Amino acid sequence: MIYADYNGSAPMLAVVRDYLKKRIDSDLYANPNAIHSIGQKIYQGIEKCREIISGIVGCYPDQIFFNSGSSEGISHVLFSILEYAPKDKNIIITSPIEHAVIPKALKFYEQRRGFKIEKTGLDENGVVEIEHLEKLLKQHQGKTALVTIMAVNNETGVMQPYEKIAKLCQHYKVDFFCDTTQLIGKGEFNFEASGADFAVCSGHKVGALTGTGFVIAKEPTKLKSHVYGSSQEKGLRGGTQHYIGVETLAIALTDFQSNKDKLIALADARSHFETKIKNLFPEVVIIGEKVPRLAGTTLVSYPGIHGQAVQIELESHDIFVTTSAACSDNQPETSEVLKAMGVNDNVGRGVIRISLNCSNIDSNYENLLQALGTSYSKLKKIKAF
Ligand SMILES: Cc1ncc(COP(=O)(O)O)c(C=O)c1O
Repeated sequence: MIYADYNGSAPMLAVVRDYLKKRIDSDLYANPNAIHSIGQKIYQGIEKCREIISGIVGCYPDQIFFNSGSSEGISHVLFSILEYAPKDKNIIITSPIEHAVIPKALKFYEQRRGFKIEKTGLDENGVVEIEHLEKLLKQHQGKTALVTIMAVNNETGVMQPYEKIAKLCQHYKVDFFCDTTQLIGKGEFNFEASGADFAVCSGHKVGALTGTGFVIAKEPTKLKSHVYGSSQEKGLRGGTQHYIGVETLAIALTDFQSNKDKLIALADARSHFETKIKNLFPEVVIIGEKVPRLAGTTLVSYPGIHGQAVQIELESHDIFVTTSAACSDNQPETSEVLKAMGVNDNVGRGVIRISLNCSNIDSNYENLLQALGTSYSKLKKIKAF
């Protein structure tokens, strides 16, 4: 079996599984906010995890706020900035390729508080146009409440120039939220060096327990309480902490940190795989191939063959991938991200996303090449459009 949907969700890491097997049989269960010794031991464990994680992501422990994952983290940051923005700061700048959480939340604030949403341009490789961002920042100087642009796109794996974006935002004195869900624990990232004001991480993307994650805030006082309760997470996120989840986050990120050197091998193997599949089928298109991408992500299309058909074929080889096209009336539609990149339907309807991690790198790509080759050979005889 090859699980190739790490951008969707990563299976629990072996180190996390081993830890949980022992952890479940321990007697260490209590409310971390209780003052008895078991509660205090668990509380200290959370703080230790905060310290470990802060060392890995490049921030101070008190800049980290644990939560249930990125959708919550994103909602927390947007709420904190947009709900409390002064009336004259009514512009939000974003990109056309953000994860669905962002446009949905921004629509809410647009309707509720009258914000105007500006979108940056995008080049044909799926990279945010930095010159256009600067133009927007200049045009709306003093009126922009927030810039929210992701670090890595979940569909294409294309890296965004977030450090340059952060510099521009600093220059124009605008808060910058960078959705780092697909970068933290998957690629090189340092919060302080990034220059971002806020970032997020999701446990299920990094092989920790699902339902865990955190927000990082450069200036924690900019975060406002969004889940009322007791004083957990400095009163900003009420609710008894998911302490076992937090422990798995620290384990997963530590594992990532000690295996980071394998990312080069992953990127090399991906590159060989892409070259080989294009040699076999010259009509194949690799989205974003000319620009830096997250190691292990390939969005590949055989124009004229539905991505879903390829997905089903691969599944018959015990290989699990996704397509990014939404299906309506049995007709796949090019995703919003690909539309924003100017990808035509012929290519857009044909994409499958292959996203792997650093284990079994060579054999996974070798088997994928065989199975994808077989699938394309079979399906091209019955091209759908
Ligand atoms: C870029 C990006 N942001 C946010 C999310 C939402 O993350 P979560 O599932 O932790 O809520 C995802 C998940 O796919 C993502 O890829």
